[in-house]
Amino acid sequence: MKYHVPVLLNESINGLSIKPSGTYVDLTFGGGGHSKLILDKLNLTGKLFSFDTDNSAINENKIKKDNFYLIESNFKFFDLHIKEKGINKVDGILADLGVSSHQIDNKERGFSYIGNNRLDMRMSTKNDLSAAEVLNNYDQDSLQNILFEYGDIKNSKIIAREIISYRNKKRIRNNEDLLEAIQNISEKKLSYKFLSKLYQAIRIEVNDEINSLREMLEKSVDFLNRSGRLVIISYHSIEDRLVKNFINKSSFNSDYKKDLYGRKVEFFRSINKKPIVPKEEEIDLNSRSRSAKLRIGERL
Ligand SMILES: C[S@@+](CC[C@H](N)C(=O)[O-])C[C@H]1O[C@@H](n2cnc3c(N)ncnc32)[C@H](O)[C@@H]1O
Repeated sequence: MKYHVPVLLNESINGLSIKPSGTYVDLTFGGGGHSKLILDKLNLTGKLFSFDTDNSAINENKIKKDNFYLIESNFKFFDLHIKEKGINKVDGILADLGVSSHQIDNKERGFSYIGNNRLDMRMSTKNDLSAAEVLNNYDQDSLQNILFEYGDIKNSKIIAREIISYRNKKRIRNNEDLLEAIQNISEKKLSYKFLSKLYQAIRIEVNDEINSLREMLEKSVDFLNRSGRLVIISYHSIEDRLVKNFINKSSFNSDYKKDLYGRKVEFFRSINKKPIVPKEEEIDLNSRSRSAKLRIGERL
């Protein structure tokens, strides 16, 4: 089975506007689809630094090239790693957020609600916090907030209560336990759509995805050369909102960042007013691309 089919491949690489001798960063290496195309466009002076927090991505998809550096790390630390290699400025940063097909399809990783997997969902198996830990240890308010904030689940209070009442009798270890815990929620709400939202919420918490994204976006500002490109593919509205506001308003909400004198701070020029989305043909070939949104900012 293919490790991962890259999404919006040409659109995102065109968005980087690659200079053959430039220095680029791919923050989410995965199956290496985007990295390979970047490398094809670089000459031997050009460099690519790629990151992934999942060591299976690193070990299974290595690319041998003298101008390519593959680093196992959360991308929120990308600055430390590239500084260590003597790089203080880059010409483009790409992030294709979320999980790879390999992570979802590999049932032992516990990302999927299909089958009776152990509830894990860690992108990096070096981290301690798993989905089971979140479900068994978080208090009512924290669970409720996660479901509401990261999954947009309206009846998050009731679901959090059901989870807690179940775990008081039996530990929640796998998918069947979780389904049993919430079986009293009406059937309509237990649709695949609901389960995707529930699993997405838990996964975002397990991997601290929103904080990592915010940290990384903030750090990108200092690392991009003037006219350098920030290219981000996101897969749900929480990520897309952060990326959109950061590129358009230099902040994480809908108000512009202002300096001490109340003037607008503008880090980026937005290249595309509306996000670029996959064409129908791409969605037909790869259904996992359907929720992708690509935004491109050019450093001012
Ligand atoms: C959608 S896949 C990327 C696929 C890749 N562009 C390709 O073409 O094969 C996302 C990858 O990013 C990694 N990832 C997600 N969040 C990360 C983070 N905060 N730091 C480092 N890697 C991360 C995941 O482990 C996964 O392998």
